[in-house]
Amino acid sequence: MRVTAPFGRRRVAVTGADDVGAYRVLHAADPDGPVPAPGQFYMLAAATGWGAGEDERPFLPRALSFLGAASGGLSFMFEEVGPGTRRLCGLVAGDELWLTGPLGNGFAAPPDGQRAILAGGGVGIPPLAAWAGTLGAGDVAVAAVLGFRDAHHAEGARLVPASCPQAVATDDGSVGHHGLVTELLSAELDRDAAAVVYACGPPRMLEAVRALCEQRGVSAQLALEAGMACGFGACFGCVVPVREGGYVRVCVDGPVLDASRVDAIPAH
Ligand SMILES: Cc1cc2nc3c(=O)[nH]c(=O)nc-3n(C[C@H](O)[C@H](O)[C@H](O)COP(=O)(O)OP(=O)(O)OC[C@H]3O[C@@H](n4cnc5c(N)ncnc54)[C@H](O)[C@@H]3O)c2cc1C
Ligand code: FES
Repeated sequence: MRVTAPFGRRRVAVTGADDVGAYRVLHAADPDGPVPAPGQFYMLAAATGWGAGEDERPFLPRALSFLGAASGGLSFMFEEVGPGTRRLCGLVAGDELWLTGPLGNGFAAPPDGQRAILAGGGVGIPPLAAWAGTLGAGDVAVAAVLGFRDAHHAEGARLVPASCPQAVATDDGSVGHHGLVTELLSAELDRDAAAVVYACGPPRMLEAVRALCEQRGVSAQLALEAGMACGFGACFGCVVPVREGGYVRVCVDGPVLDASRVDAIPAH
């Protein structure tokens, strides 16, 4: 599903920020933006200290899926991995953001009567948390399997609505299942092979989910990530090859793609 963004970028106020385990959750007002569809994303830049000063690296806005959207406000979740997320982690209530979006295509609902299984890893949680809320409100049966590095990161699972039953896996076994999230997904599919899988996470995890679903003939929708410069189809920096031939732009043809369209998820 796609909700169309208003033309141009909007300057909006940061209304708060919290730490949830290893992640930062940022809240912003967006009174003039439409309600986005789960799986869509925004291009974000801090209004100040973003490539304008002498010692600052000039950089483009960064793509972030929204985590929640309610009463004219949006929330995002991210981990500090570089200069953009470091600056975003420093924002507090009263600061301002440039925001463009919502962009791209979101998830499509499962056929009537089929369950949804959400498979997420690390910073892949936001679109799945938003989707869990929408599916739950529409009476679709939904469960989540979520993978993290360790117990500190696994606190991010709290961002998925509590109404969605969830199982957690960690790489170091400090909480939940000691192993890969695909092992939990495999067990879920043993119980219900007719479910539709929705996945977002690091490329290696997403590729493992894609391969597992293909092997079992399970329908899956994957929220892809790619390096993005513009976010709206102009730069072709985000292309991925597709089975039908040629390439698609993740920002406008995705980020959610049906798994049957891709041969393998490219590593960054
Ligand atoms: C549609 C979409 C939605 C996204 N949603 C989220 C989100 O909700 N939360 C979140 O934390 N991140 C999300 N990302 C990833 C985020 O945009 C990048 O991690 C961002 O570039 C980080 O900026 P930076 O300046 O901090 O680090 P950079 O200097 O840009 O990158 C730091 C490191 O991360 C790697 N990297 C950069 N971009 C990506 C990418 N797209 N995927 C994986 N690794 C990357 C780089 O190779 C480098 O090693 C999303 C990306 C896309 C395309
Ligand atoms: S990010 Fe520019 S075309 Fe996709």
